[in-house]
Amino acid sequence: MQDVIAPVLGRAGRLDAVAFSQGPGLGPCLRTVATAARALALALGVPLIGVNHCLAHVEIGRYTTGCEDPIVLYASGANTQVIGYLAGRYRIFGETLDIGLGNALDKFARTRGLPHPGGPGIERLAREGEMIELPYTVKGMDLAFSGLVTSASSSKAPLPDVCRGLQETAFAMCVEVTERALAHAGKDEVLLVGGVGANRRLQEMLGTMCKERGARLFVPEPVYLGDNGAMIAYTGRLQLENGMNTPISESRVDPNYRIDQVPCPWRDDHPETFFRVEPRGAEAIVQLGKTDAVKSRFERRYRDAALDTRLRQERTRSEARLISAARRNGVGTPIIRDVDGTTIVMERVYGEVLKAGLSAERLEAAGEAVGRLHAAGIVHGDLTTSNMIVRDGRVVVIDFGLAQSSEELEARGVDLHVLLQSLSAAVPEPDELIAAFVRGYRRAFPGADAVLEREEAIRRRGRYL
Ligand code: FE2
Repeated sequence: MQDVIAPVLGRAGRLDAVAFSQGPGLGPCLRTVATAARALALALGVPLIGVNHCLAHVEIGRYTTGCEDPIVLYASGANTQVIGYLAGRYRIFGETLDIGLGNALDKFARTRGLPHPGGPGIERLAREGEMIELPYTVKGMDLAFSGLVTSASSSKAPLPDVCRGLQETAFAMCVEVTERALAHAGKDEVLLVGGVGANRRLQEMLGTMCKERGARLFVPEPVYLGDNGAMIAYTGRLQLENGMNTPISESRVDPNYRIDQVPCPWRDDHPETFFRVEPRGAEAIVQLGKTDAVKSRFERRYRDAALDTRLRQERTRSEARLISAARRNGVGTPIIRDVDGTTIVMERVYGEVLKAGLSAERLEAAGEAVGRLHAAGIVHGDLTTSNMIVRDGRVVVIDFGLAQSSEELEARGVDLHVLLQSLSAAVPEPDELIAAFVRGYRRAFPGADAVLEREEAIRRRGRYL
């Protein structure tokens, strides 16, 4: 520690404060640095500033690349999150439900005797491989990597092919969720941060997605991409300038510290961009006629062509089947008129998108619709406030693109989790709206309590492994 601090103190002309990473991360590591930071701040008589590690990645990324209001893909060993700023704070739009992307690649690498960290070796081998089919798990705005890693680890295909399949699948999942957040939030910048961001293929895929959406991709220089001291110092400076010192009594580390806990007074508020209506969804174009809506899943050129075709056809067939099933069970949905390849022709639903007018009454109706859906054994898979339309006080559920038949508690819990997250991202004080939603959900679905309990568990589940 002495070797690190002494030269810095010698070089720094003036020292205004001592910043340290307060979390998230591994407890013992965080505590070691926090102890040193406290001692140093006290000895020098300068303020102490506890910094959120994820926030620091985002702020150094914004500072060094010059982007302003991006959707951030933060992909590192322990973390995989899609983050965007709204009304005073960064919000987590989506994240991994099990392990981080970097850990997923490392786990696979270990089973095949590849050197640590696994990413670079997998990237090299993937270039020589052919694509193979592996499980693709996106649940609304969240992702999961465990199934993919297990399947890749036990695959009998040649190693370069497995590397190719693993990389293409895992990255496509991240890019899809990033694109979904971009569409939902109406932003036009993407920032890639975290150690896995050094992967060329991931950069290329994000770049292609951005280009097709008219958005711009920003990637910091390698030295500011992975963990670095400058990011803590720079974010500490922003906090210092805004009077956000950390009293010693509040300087305990928090291994589960989340970015959405930190107020960010240095950011300008652009709430209006959040509510901008996005004419083009994340994966399909809906052409509205007078009475019909024609939904076509367009090619996503960022992902492998075979994977792309497979996903589009599967999702189209499944969507049409589940919309009809939901409707038979009393859920408001569009009427299906025709299905062909990657296109569905359905009834045009007139009304107002739920996120454009959030009220307790509407949320209660939404809760009832979701309750009926779950009671019918269907999970929606992308329950955001953009995917519900209010017509004559009734909620019509649209976009069943990621829906599935399931009576599993976990799937239902994730469904609710996605919606509650989208609500929390949309308004600063979501509690009343959430309570109204829960009322409607309970009324329509006898199994509601168990699902609500599971949703809470999903929220609490160790996201920082
Ligand atoms: Fe990090």
